[in-house]
Amino acid sequence: MTVGETLVFVAFGSNEGDREQHLRTALQRLGATPGIVVVRTSQLRESTLQGHGPAQGAFLNGVVQLRTTLSALALLGVCKALEGMAGRRLPAPRNHPRPLDLDLIFYGQERIDTRELVVPHPRWHEREFVCEPLRELGVDLDASPRHVAPRVYEPPIEFAAQCSEWLAGGCVVGLVPTMGALHAGHRSLMAIARRECDRVAATIFVNPLQFGPNEDFAAYPRDLTGDLAICAEAGVDAVFAPTVAQMYDPEFCSHVAVGAAAQGMEGALRKDHFGGVATVVARLFAIARPHRAYFGEKDAQQLAVIRRMTRDLGFPIRIVGCPIVREADGLARSSRNVYLGAADRAASTILHRALRSAQGAFVRGERDRDALLARVRAVLATEPRAEVDYVELRSEGALAELPPGPVDGGRLLVAAKFRDGARPVRLLDNLSLREGADLA
Ligand code: PAJ
Repeated sequence: MTVGETLVFVAFGSNEGDREQHLRTALQRLGATPGIVVVRTSQLRESTLQGHGPAQGAFLNGVVQLRTTLSALALLGVCKALEGMAGRRLPAPRNHPRPLDLDLIFYGQERIDTRELVVPHPRWHEREFVCEPLRELGVDLDASPRHVAPRVYEPPIEFAAQCSEWLAGGCVVGLVPTMGALHAGHRSLMAIARRECDRVAATIFVNPLQFGPNEDFAAYPRDLTGDLAICAEAGVDAVFAPTVAQMYDPEFCSHVAVGAAAQGMEGALRKDHFGGVATVVARLFAIARPHRAYFGEKDAQQLAVIRRMTRDLGFPIRIVGCPIVREADGLARSSRNVYLGAADRAASTILHRALRSAQGAFVRGERDRDALLARVRAVLATEPRAEVDYVELRSEGALAELPPGPVDGGRLLVAAKFRDGARPVRLLDNLSLREGADLA
């Protein structure tokens, strides 16, 4: 190796046309490119498609070791050009047959994580058709760098650096803030983020600022190991799980004050709760600077407060509201559901049933607000285990008070306490009057 050269491994494959010819031509062209020296090439071997795709012939695969003075991005450009010269259509549909596929596996010891290029290749170690040729070329696979996902960050500065790197690499970054004890509701937020973004970061932080003195901060369920497994399965790229001291240093004293959106309902019952939520979310936004952030409609008032705060403070972030995920019997998923005793768990479906009943009445033509609210209360009253905190009908989105007169839509919101489990549990639920036209 001469100064300025980097040792690189490129995997190649073909399963369309004269496979061997495509590969030989590509290797010749690589070797003839200024700044590239072919060191060694593995044997060619056959493999079948991994993953889902249309029926297609077997691949011919191998790995070539190069020395190059080109940057990783320039080398990627050469590989793409060679794929194009072999007749590959771009953008190439996923898992379709292709005359030539060139993947940068390792570029020296460098770690690159941009929209165009991730090195080491994120899945090299899962692919036998890459591992086997690498072994043949004398690469010690156990000592080779792997791309671990999700990477876990504790200090805010390190998580911020990772997000900055993604942003600098042109990635669309999505943020999913949570307090952990993850369940299908959180997973759905991650799945939506995964579909819409190049990189997804989840945060796991039980935020003391949003718990009142008599609330369940200490007892809030925590399971980082289980949470990380769920994040890995959901394809999350990074998890930010700071300690309280890392998030709020001892001199921390700047808080976000929230206004009208935080009044009434949860805001009336939990003093300072939404101020604490807005403060931590603003801090997470400032650290990660995502393009998009994902929140559940399950906590509809929280979503309204965060939308307002984002606009008021001028964060250039799109807030994405995601539908409520429910158990089969209608109970909205929540981290606190684990604390429901058996009898309360059975009784807890009353919230959703009460909301559906009023929604059904609206769909059948009921437009009187008091009648709709009375209907929710009447159904809730059939379940003595439910101690109702509030039942409200508010505008969609901002959850503002509705003007007097007949209603032409809106969102019903309810909260109730249940007390027979290990500790009292408050459950929230809400439903749009306009959903469920199927009830008519
Ligand atoms: P947490 O209760 O962990 O919820 C994290 C996110 O998951 C919230 O946006 C919440 O609305 C959403 N979520 C919870 N249950 C859901 C369900 N059944 N269906 C769909 N989405 C659901 O909400 C918080 O944490 C915190 O207040 C936080 C925003 C992270 C600030 O600390």
